[in-house]
Amino acid sequence: MGIKMKKIILDCDPGHDDAIALLLAWGNPEIELLAVTTVVGNQTLDKVTRNALAVARIANITGVPFAAGCSRPLVRNIEVAADIHGESGLDGPRLPDPTLTLDARHAIDVIIDTVMAHPPGSVTLVPTGGLTNIAMAVRKEPRIAERVKEVVLMGGGYHVGNWSAVAEFNIKIDPEAAHIVFNERWPLTMVGLDLTHQALATPQVCQRIAAIDSAPATFVGELLQFFGQMYRQAQGFDAPPVHDPCAVAYVIDPSVMTVRKVPIDIELTGTLTLGMTVADFRFPAPQDCHTQVAMTLDQDKFWGLVVDALERIG
Ligand code: BDR
Ligand code: CA
Repeated sequence: MGIKMKKIILDCDPGHDDAIALLLAWGNPEIELLAVTTVVGNQTLDKVTRNALAVARIANITGVPFAAGCSRPLVRNIEVAADIHGESGLDGPRLPDPTLTLDARHAIDVIIDTVMAHPPGSVTLVPTGGLTNIAMAVRKEPRIAERVKEVVLMGGGYHVGNWSAVAEFNIKIDPEAAHIVFNERWPLTMVGLDLTHQALATPQVCQRIAAIDSAPATFVGELLQFFGQMYRQAQGFDAPPVHDPCAVAYVIDPSVMTVRKVPIDIELTGTLTLGMTVADFRFPAPQDCHTQVAMTLDQDKFWGLVVDALERIG
């Protein structure tokens, strides 16, 4: 393996695509996975945490702290996505019993401790679920806002919604947390639905993954099969969009997508638009604009990274 230059904390709610994001982060030689934290989202906290630990066992992930975080959003009631991820949050494959033990700390303390223990500008936060943990962490320890390198999150969309006409799931389930995270001054890249709907696990992609003869690759194949069925039923997709690994891929190689700087804010009061990520494209972005959106995906490069990571995990 090469030198691991890119230190990340993956804050996730596995979740089929979160599981693949975790495998991409673990299998890529440039990523140093400092911690995995879980948050209520696709399913309850207990379920998504169990799922994260099951993925760790499948890929033999060791030496990385896993910590459970917030079990409900800041203000709203819990909304899970069983229509996409099933009752377990990771329906499809048989999940092994976890062997890793959870870190005793709360996820928000793991995030804070990890960021503060590393040099300024060296740790990237990669949230792929609701933003509850990240919002809580930056409220508890505001110094992390200037200490992290950047936040690269999967969530939102500047023209597309999936949990309402205009809002995406990760933002809509905890819009107040999203409001906190988007309004901190850290550099923030929103890898939203506009981008992730280009990351479709087509039959050709599934064949490439099936050709890797290993337990983690078989697991991903089973995940994608279930995910594909659910996306067909729930949202009419021919092939499922594999959202969360796109955020990890951007950290690995920013040339995997085009981005554009634009001010973004989160709608908190709209009756029809709650949780909308409002991107203001009217003017050139101001000098001090700290947010950007992902626009176009290099699909070959993206799937190449996913396949390469699975091959390396073996
Ligand atoms: C996001 O919502 C979740 O269901 C997925 O894991 C992804 O993070 C897509 O809207
Ligand atoms: Ca997710």
